[in-house]
Amino acid sequence: MATLVPLSSVDPSLVETLLDESFGEGRHARTAYRIREGTQWLEGLSFAALDDDDYLAGSIQLWPVALIDPDGRRHPLIMVGPVAVMPALQGEGFGKALMGAALGALDASAGSSPVLPQVMIGDPDYYGRWDFTAAHTAGWHCPGPFDPARLLVRTPNPAILPAEGMLEAWKPAAE
Ligand SMILES: CC(C)(COP(=O)(O)OP(=O)(O)OC[C@H]1O[C@@H](n2cnc3c(N)ncnc32)[C@H](O)[C@@H]1OP(=O)(O)O)[C@@H](O)C(=O)NCCC(=O)NCCS
Repeated sequence: MATLVPLSSVDPSLVETLLDESFGEGRHARTAYRIREGTQWLEGLSFAALDDDDYLAGSIQLWPVALIDPDGRRHPLIMVGPVAVMPALQGEGFGKALMGAALGALDASAGSSPVLPQVMIGDPDYYGRWDFTAAHTAGWHCPGPFDPARLLVRTPNPAILPAEGMLEAWKPAAE
């Protein structure tokens, strides 16, 4: 049974070890890392899962990113990932618990306002259960190689999504 706690309450070195175990040591070269480069994960929306002995079993981080459309307009999005579960504990429900916690917190944080669309690079067979789909991202680009079938977005209102654009970290507008 997973216990969900804020990721900020966990020793960052333990999270780094978890990510190395789940993704391998070359993970920093992944395109998802390039998209998020220069920004920080969102504290209120990022969680750790602890196992029955209170050891770190998994983590999820959400980030502020932007899709830059061909006219240079910046459309804010939330990037989900990495979602990581210790290899020995995969398939026991930690991933689903982490996704539920993060998406639940995101919905709650918005109150009655619209929630920003969420983007991720991940397995559509797994993340489809939360309505992530590659159906609206065919014209989206990333600052590195990626499989278009794995560039996924989730929103109740796909009509507002730009058809084309480049993903990058969210940067506040210059004064
Ligand atoms: C992907 C990952 C986060 C899933 O977490 P998990 O705790 O192993 O998964 P859960 O136990 O919550 O979910 C299990 C369910 O998902 C399914 N599932 C797990 N990985 C899947 C995949 N890659 N594709 C499709 N289904 C998958 C299982 O069949 C099971 O289905 P069920 O609920 O119908 O029985 C985890 O396996 C992981 O850390 N993998 C390595 C890192 C990675 O690839 N992360 C995702 C990219 S950000």
